[in-house]
Amino acid sequence: MKVKEISGLKMGKKVLVVSNPEIFSHYGETVLTSLESAGFEPSTHLIPAGEAYKTLDSISGIYDTALDYRLERSSTMLALGGGVIRDITGFAAATWLRGINFVQVPTSLLAMIDASIGGKTGVNHPDGKNLIGAFYQPRLVFHRV
Ligand SMILES: NC(=O)c1ccc[n+]([C@@H]2O[C@H](COP(=O)([O-])OP(=O)(O)OC[C@H]3O[C@@H](n4cnc5c(N)ncnc54)[C@H](O)[C@@H]3O)[C@@H](O)[C@H]2O)c1
Repeated sequence: MKVKEISGLKMGKKVLVVSNPEIFSHYGETVLTSLESAGFEPSTHLIPAGEAYKTLDSISGIYDTALDYRLERSSTMLALGGGVIRDITGFAAATWLRGINFVQVPTSLLAMIDASIGGKTGVNHPDGKNLIGAFYQPRLVFHRV
């Protein structure tokens, strides 16, 4: 991943990479190495794959990690994954400290051509899909890793 673009956005050093174990096994090391080589301090939060995990519990888990790593207002949450990871991470970024930087690295076709556009973020309620959320635009969307 080329991080020249992300460096130019003048964001803080802390970047929380949110992904699932399957996707992370393919791209995680590349993303972490790229961020580190550009001077960022990445940390990782993994959520099991699948729509069943697009929940407030997953958001709560991200908040716990954000607290552990002391993410600040200038910090970034980076979504490495398909539409599910993107929607979860975007909502966490929109709400942690009332909104921190959000960057997307979409890995599924749907995430590249649909979920990357429009700024919709959110999670499911047990009684309905996408009932909880916010519009929150990413600072950057990468289309290659
Ligand atoms: N925010 C928006 O505007 C918007 C628009 C459309 C859809 N969505 C949401 O997107 C979600 C669906 O997204 P999706 O179709 O990407 O499903 P998904 O995120 O569940 O990904 C599908 C599967 O593909 C795997 N995967 C993703 N990229 C991979 C890769 N490069 N290599 C190997 N495996 C990979 C994932 O681990 C997962 O198991 C839904 O929750 C939907 O509501 C959001």
